[in-house]
Amino acid sequence: MASETAPGGVDVTIPNVARIYDCFLDGKDNYAADRAAADKIIAVAPATRATALANRHFLARVVRFLAVEAGIDQFLDIGCGLPTQQNVHEVARAVRPDARVAYVDKDTVVLAHARALLATQPRTMVIEGDLDDPESILLAPELAEILDLDRPVAVLMLSVLHCMPDDDRVRGAVRRLRDALVPGSHLAISHITRPDPASGYRQAAEEGARTYRDLGADTGMTFRDRDVVAGLFDGMELLSPGLVNLSDWRPDPALGPVSGQGLPATYLCGVARKDVR
Ligand SMILES: C[S@@+](CC[C@H](N)C(=O)[O-])C[C@H]1O[C@@H](n2cnc3c(N)ncnc32)[C@H](O)[C@@H]1O
Repeated sequence: MASETAPGGVDVTIPNVARIYDCFLDGKDNYAADRAAADKIIAVAPATRATALANRHFLARVVRFLAVEAGIDQFLDIGCGLPTQQNVHEVARAVRPDARVAYVDKDTVVLAHARALLATQPRTMVIEGDLDDPESILLAPELAEILDLDRPVAVLMLSVLHCMPDDDRVRGAVRRLRDALVPGSHLAISHITRPDPASGYRQAAEEGARTYRDLGADTGMTFRDRDVVAGLFDGMELLSPGLVNLSDWRPDPALGPVSGQGLPATYLCGVARKDVR
């Protein structure tokens, strides 16, 4: 980005989770403080950049799976982040041109960039909402304009829940959103977790998260164990292959690119369906 001014009077000297992640993905929507922060994290946790890419590749496979195999044509992408390559509407529309997508984020810069990108895109909407306050999403007037919650929806919460530090608030937020979905809806989650000590990467991952926190970034970065992440799908049917490392979730090239093989398992991801009861 040539100038160091941001939309909405945002203080760009404070590193920001969306923009640091954009640095990991070689994006251009970031500022000097974000780039310095990304460099510091990569210095202690070198797999971070490749993991971010593996997460985006998981996103592409999941959206394609949901659109093709699960028959979903409505997507709610919460904590959508800055627009990058293979955004949800692009992946979904490649196979379902009629797909409708609501992007939600709480970050001013993300919202400005997403709105600029999507201004000419039909059947997409950018909504300001905070996952920590699910009603801000569910009751947003724009949501009802773009998605029909009386029909199945796929809710994506990728690489966002670990920005919230409190387990109970995360559980409550996910439960509230799950409850708002009709049977046939799906929930996809990716979330950081402490790698197995045997991987030799646990210390690096913890140092990466500590470095991130010490930088005074805008949100937290909280590892959660498998049982806590699995519990977020309570009451839904976790689809094969279950809760796995990013590169192990349906690594089918027909669904999209796969990367992250051989990386330490710092993420868990999975997809579940709300069944008819
Ligand atoms: C690491 S990015 C993930 C982007 C994208 N979901 C992905 O997986 O590639 C995390 C995003 O979540 C957003 N975020 C963090 N906490 C949030 C909250 N409580 N409500 C809504 N968005 C949030 C951040 O602003 C950021 O854009």
